[in-house]
Amino acid sequence: MAYLHGDRVLGDPGSPLRLDTGWSGEPDGDLDRPLRLVGRGGCDPNPVDVSTVDGRQHLLSFVWADQRERWVRLGAALDLALVDPVPVRRASAAEWLGEQLARPERDVLTVVWHSVVWQYASAAERAAGRAVLAAAAERATAAAPLALLVFESRRGHDPARPYEFQLLLKLWPAGRSLRLGVGGPHGTPFTWESGPWT
Ligand SMILES: C[S@@+](CC[C@H](N)C(=O)[O-])C[C@H]1O[C@@H](n2cnc3c(N)ncnc32)[C@H](O)[C@@H]1O
Repeated sequence: MAYLHGDRVLGDPGSPLRLDTGWSGEPDGDLDRPLRLVGRGGCDPNPVDVSTVDGRQHLLSFVWADQRERWVRLGAALDLALVDPVPVRRASAAEWLGEQLARPERDVLTVVWHSVVWQYASAAERAAGRAVLAAAAERATAAAPLALLVFESRRGHDPARPYEFQLLLKLWPAGRSLRLGVGGPHGTPFTWESGPWT
């Protein structure tokens, strides 16, 4: 996947998925530092098999007909998923996460990522997810650190925007808890503005 950022291309320049960042502000980090992904996995109570025509059309059908840019972007993401698939298990978040985080992974940063999911989970599911994460955070060490990175709808500070989509990060054992920025419900436009995650 590639990010087009001004006149720069970050990530894989040959990727079928090229995201025009359209960011305001800049992230507080070194964008030139290469990232090495050693493993990925996910879960969904109703996973869609994007390697099939039905699965592809099913996901594309969720994009409103006048949102051509989103439609093209999703098509490119589906093309990428064909050549670089991520295993997705049929499971709900707390159950799956409990299994994944049971043993800390040494010499890598384990990142738990979720976007636009929290609002769909029941109160019981959210409580179970928090408990799983708290137990994993207790086990995190400098050699086996843990991060929670989420993009979710939260109550905003601006009365004109009672709800906004915030990018939030927690790090263990560093004990940092940050709000990194705010964006539209589908990721763009996005503004980097760091502060505490309160
Ligand atoms: C709006 S979509 C977001 C998809 C994707 N994360 C994104 O940002 O584009 C919400 C997804 O959450 C999944 N979901 C709902 N409840 C869940 C749960 N308890 N555990 C895991 N996933 C859940 C739904 O099946 C759906 O695929």
